[in-house]
Amino acid sequence: MTEISVDFNRPVVVGNEFEYMKQAVENGHISGDGPFTKKCHAFLEKELGIPKVLLTTSCTHALEMSAILLDIQPGDEVILPDFTFVSTVNAFVLRGARPVFVDIRPDTLNLDESRLQALVTPRTKAIVPVHYAGVGCEMDTIMEIATRHKLAVIEDNAHGLFGKYKGKYLGTFGSMASQSFHETKNFTSGEGGALLINDPAMVERAEIIREKGTNRSRFFRGQVDRYTWVDIGSSYLPSDILAAFLFAQFEEREKIQLHRRQVWELYYAGLKDWAGTHDMQLPHIPTHCEQSYHMFYMLLPNLELRQKLISYLRERGVYSVFHYLPLHLSDMGRGFGGKTGDCPVTERVSDQLVRLPFHNALTSAEQEQVIDLLQQFPF
Ligand SMILES: Cc1ncc(COP(=O)(O)O)c(C=O)c1O
Repeated sequence: MTEISVDFNRPVVVGNEFEYMKQAVENGHISGDGPFTKKCHAFLEKELGIPKVLLTTSCTHALEMSAILLDIQPGDEVILPDFTFVSTVNAFVLRGARPVFVDIRPDTLNLDESRLQALVTPRTKAIVPVHYAGVGCEMDTIMEIATRHKLAVIEDNAHGLFGKYKGKYLGTFGSMASQSFHETKNFTSGEGGALLINDPAMVERAEIIREKGTNRSRFFRGQVDRYTWVDIGSSYLPSDILAAFLFAQFEEREKIQLHRRQVWELYYAGLKDWAGTHDMQLPHIPTHCEQSYHMFYMLLPNLELRQKLISYLRERGVYSVFHYLPLHLSDMGRGFGGKTGDCPVTERVSDQLVRLPFHNALTSAEQEQVIDLLQQFPF
């Protein structure tokens, strides 16, 4: 038997990453907001058609900035999907908010917009949709409910850069959105993120919060003659060396997205019939959504089979992973009153989901090995 080794994720240099990092050093500006950070901002603003983009040290930090910008206060309620990464909730809980978890749709695993209305109270301040796997949430309904109740919408678009809902880029619907450039994402700087700001009234304060609560950005633009402490804030701006790495990846946008599309489509074509005969669910992409090709997941019939499949692949050199545990059943979630049965779809999906290897250097030969192994899996 040939030795198989297929990584779940691998950092991949796709273009001028090293050359640009060298240039960043030669530019003499390796702290934040140097020439490469500005190039990244300009690229995303132009491509997405969004008024302002600010690179951050992570998606987590972009979410934290959005919670500060919304002036979230202790006791405010924020509605978010139960099936998401902890940062989506932590950013708001850090400001004292009470999280209100909404269950997900069984088809796209995005928050179930039909359950939103019932969760809105006079204390609700914001809705935080997560475009799971880069497939758009039902933004028409979400925006309609938010507008009617005067709620902010912050899109957690960690997975969804360049995905679209009804022809419009994800991350451009709410007043703000967060992106992730963590190493598992389509475009990466190892760790990194961005805050997309759709509401021009928020830009100046966002720059201050990102610069430790100072008006340093205005000072550098010559708009004030000294900089000083004017608000709360932290250090949310990444080194220009990281921006240099990231910009090189942005330049290869077409190549990266085409490759990821091919990876996704090969998995889907290779597994569709097999999944159908074994009671497995593959991703569902509504026809009005263009996905970002961030990940490929499958839902197994139950937890026992999911665990068995992960071990089976692992023993044969293929690394697959599962994620998110229901937030309402975590230690913190239970502290906010969460109990079994609150979000039944999340509770089920969390037991069933497995993610297959997916990265920018994954070859079709490796994928064929994964598909072959899956088809031989003894259910
Ligand atoms: C939905 C979601 N939001 C936020 C994050 C946090 O991203 P980061 O690691 O860039 O802080 C992740 C991480 O993968 C995520 O999956």
